[in-house]
Amino acid sequence: MSSDCNDRIFAPTPQNIARAAEIIREGGLVAFPTETVYGLGANALSSDAVKKIFEAKGRPGDNPLIMHVAGISDASKYADIGSAAEVLMHHFWPGPLTLVLSSFPIVPLETRANLDTVAMRAPLNPIALELIREAGVPIAAPSANKSGRPSPTTAQTVWEDLRDSVDMIIDGGSTLIGVESTVADATDNVLRILRPGGVSRETLAQFVDVAGDEDSDKVKYRSPGTLHRHYAPSIPMVLWDREGDDVFPTVSGCKWSYIGVAEPPSCVVEPCEKIIADSIKDYARLLYSALRELEASGAEMIVAELPGCAEIGEAVRDRLKRAAGVE
Ligand code: TXA
Ligand code: MG
Repeated sequence: MSSDCNDRIFAPTPQNIARAAEIIREGGLVAFPTETVYGLGANALSSDAVKKIFEAKGRPGDNPLIMHVAGISDASKYADIGSAAEVLMHHFWPGPLTLVLSSFPIVPLETRANLDTVAMRAPLNPIALELIREAGVPIAAPSANKSGRPSPTTAQTVWEDLRDSVDMIIDGGSTLIGVESTVADATDNVLRILRPGGVSRETLAQFVDVAGDEDSDKVKYRSPGTLHRHYAPSIPMVLWDREGDDVFPTVSGCKWSYIGVAEPPSCVVEPCEKIIADSIKDYARLLYSALRELEASGAEMIVAELPGCAEIGEAVRDRLKRAAGVE
């Protein structure tokens, strides 16, 4: 029988964080807030603990996990940090940048899905950082959703997806950024972006050489997670590339819901529900909760505005295209 969510969701008090750290050390699962989305954490150095993450999420075993560390000196225990990675860690850690590096053998193969690389990031959220420090071990954490669902941006959505399969959920409120970290391969001197996210391509390019996105379709340069089926709403979703001069999708004769920065054209029939973001940053922040909400709005179709690539727009575009099944 499933327990009430009040049994699992806890405020981020020092005592509760200490308890969560103990659960991690004992091999259990703790969901915690980061600045991007909530993570489902386990001791990254324990194969058995990491296996529980894959089970709880229903995640394919060939999709490696991100190791969350407190900073550069921690990271240097687990992987070979080249000069480009060092520059990036100094500028962007703690923050939403995950770096893929050559792994040392100490990192279990389960954590890195048998690859010879490991992905690491130091999160900016103070609750996450305190949890990592208290646990005294790196924390492997994918987004705390069931595989194929939108990533959770609140403690409540973690509970809705994972229920009793997680030992404790720390409630840090709604996450700040709303889409996941940028994942970049830093094993070479030229950085390759494997998944756009919280730090934009143009920002990274101010510090290191970044390979152009013309390579992004080459499977070799994609992160394994981007090859798996991703979140697809239970109702059809169509995209409106307003800046690309797309005509607005046909909505007449159907109940539809909308999300975007721009208002839908006034000539079309009113949507059942409409979520208008204030800016591209705001679009990223509310995207995943909006998708869950619109899916349940009684509409037969979702129309989403496809933003331009600037800033966090590249990440929002990526997630929308994958949700709509056009990439
Ligand atoms: O913001 C985030 O990154 C969140 C929070 C919780 O930190 N985490 C997250 O984890 O989004 P996840 O598991 O949902 O996505 C991690 C991505 C996947 O696409 C995975 O394939 C990729 O990172 N990845 C992990 N290790 C890798 C590696 N060694 N080489 C290439 N890609 C890797
Ligand atoms: Mg995920």
